[in-house]
Amino acid sequence: MTVLEVLQSTTAYFKKREIESPRLNAEHLLAHVLKRKRIELYLEFERALTEPELAPLRELVRRRGLGEPLQHLLGTVEFAGRVFLCDKRALVPRPETEELVERLFELTINHQPSTIIDIGTGSGVIALTLAAHFPDAEVHAVDISNDALALARENAARLDLQQRVRFAKGNLLEGVEGQFDLIVANLPYVPATDRPTLAREVLHDPESAVFAGERGDELIRELIIVARDRLHPGGLLALEVGIGQADDLAALMTEKNYHDIASIRDYGGVTRFLFGRYG
Ligand SMILES: C[S@@+](CC[C@H](N)C(=O)[O-])C[C@H]1O[C@@H](n2cnc3c(N)ncnc32)[C@H](O)[C@@H]1O
Repeated sequence: MTVLEVLQSTTAYFKKREIESPRLNAEHLLAHVLKRKRIELYLEFERALTEPELAPLRELVRRRGLGEPLQHLLGTVEFAGRVFLCDKRALVPRPETEELVERLFELTINHQPSTIIDIGTGSGVIALTLAAHFPDAEVHAVDISNDALALARENAARLDLQQRVRFAKGNLLEGVEGQFDLIVANLPYVPATDRPTLAREVLHDPESAVFAGERGDELIRELIIVARDRLHPGGLLALEVGIGQADDLAALMTEKNYHDIASIRDYGGVTRFLFGRYG
């Protein structure tokens, strides 16, 4: 079979298996197996593939068809212009979280944070992206999962940012002392009751990265409360939240005396990000 024929048949198979963006998935997997850039496949459409090239592809296509995330099969994910290792030790970083980081860049353009902490760092994407963007900032990252921290540290080393981010294990802000100009968190926010409705791919993320309780927003509520003592005066709390959670959480921030509270929609139209200052 030629490159084009393989792409066409894989796309058709993924469509049947209800994989989102079937052609894109096919291209990514074939490029991965052939060690090419995806765009380079277009120059080779007529080339016949050999059996040693096809065999590993078949296995990846089978696994993708069963709902294994593309990023786990590739072993990497792109986030805010950098490539991060990605596997089952931590949540697959989502495009919405790249938006959270973009909004943060805009919000801090006139006043760069000197002390930053990323709570629930997972693969480290937020902390490492912020460390690269704010070269003078002291950056901390915490997670409750040893597996996630191991992956985050590997990502830090790969990006040569290991000297820039201090990783620690702990529940929310416990385990790290001091106050911060910016506390950012993409904590688990899916309600336990949503489990049956989730895409197959999400079930490959660690449980502790996805679910936080019956309501979903339990951990975020707790952070809103404990973050007050840990922000420098006027410091910023930046949160990614789940669908339908923003209004209640913004009300909690108002009740707890945060100011300059802003709820911001993601590109999909979901109110996804909450910002507020304290003190
Ligand atoms: C939704 S994932 C986000 C990962 C990463 N920040 C990202 O945006 O891709 C949430 C992370 O919070 C961590 N976590 C869950 N409960 C926590 C807690 N009580 N304290 C600190 N981290 C927690 C999970 O282990 C997981 O890595």
